[in-house]
Amino acid sequence: MTIIQTLSFMLLAMAIAATAQNPVLNTSGWPLHRGIKYYIKPAITDHGGCFTLVDRNRSCPLYVGQENTSAGRGLPVKFAPFFKNETVVREGKDFKVSFAAATTCVQSTTWKLDGEFIGTGDDGGYSNYFYISLGEVEKTYVIRWCPSDACPSCRWLRCGQVGAVVENGKRLLIWASRSVLPVVFEKANC
Ligand SMILES: *[C@@H]1O[C@H](CO)[C@@H](O)[C@H](O)[C@H]1NC(C)=O
Ligand SMILES: *[C@@H]1O[C@H](CO)[C@@H](O)[C@H](O)[C@H]1NC(C)=O
Ligand SMILES: *[C@@H]1O[C@H](CO)[C@@H](O)[C@H](O)[C@H]1NC(C)=O
Ligand SMILES: *[C@@H]1O[C@H](CO)[C@@H](O)[C@H](O)[C@H]1NC(C)=O
Repeated sequence: MTIIQTLSFMLLAMAIAATAQNPVLNTSGWPLHRGIKYYIKPAITDHGGCFTLVDRNRSCPLYVGQENTSAGRGLPVKFAPFFKNETVVREGKDFKVSFAAATTCVQSTTWKLDGEFIGTGDDGGYSNYFYISLGEVEKTYVIRWCPSDACPSCRWLRCGQVGAVVENGKRLLIWASRSVLPVVFEKANC
């Protein structure tokens, strides 16, 4: 190989490695870190407010939903990447995500699939693992479910992207939707 070929090969390899490992960034361009609190906000206006816990039906467990308006305060979440040695949340890499909040329910505030909705409770299974990918609009992200780090040999019948529906006036997140809710991440309060 010539030096040029070697160099371009190295650059290509670096580009591929970089794409696979891009950190997910907050709105000021800093990587999201394990264990730090972030608010999740819709990237577009008129699609509800910040992410929060929603009492879907006057009972536990609580569901993952949104404030009705941008005036709502929301609740922060904390990410826990699947790989214990990983301190940064990266595109395409599995994590668990939990609201940093106390509730009266026995279930933890960790997100998990609950039918087509996203509920709460850590059952230690694959339904607790989500990942984030880039949205179609620059600097926005989409949360998805399709565990791969947590289960490399799994071939899921159905993978999903997180969208939102309104049920009895409450905004709830669903994962099996055609609609998608692009989001951004901020440390600041909602
Ligand atoms: C709410 O709970 C009631 C009583 O348990 C049940 O009949 C109803 O289907 C539930 N609604 C939803 C949206 O889960
Ligand atoms: C949104 O409005 C509905 C209907 O008034 C209410 O039941 C629900 O609790 C509100 N959601 C939040 C997160 O406050
Ligand atoms: C973290 O652990 C995983 C799995 O053991 C390994 O593939 C990866 O290279 C490690 N990353 C770092 C930054 O050490
Ligand atoms: C983004 O993260 C950096 C580093 O953690 C922090 O200093 C900054 O305030 C954050 N910006 C927003 C908008 O959350």
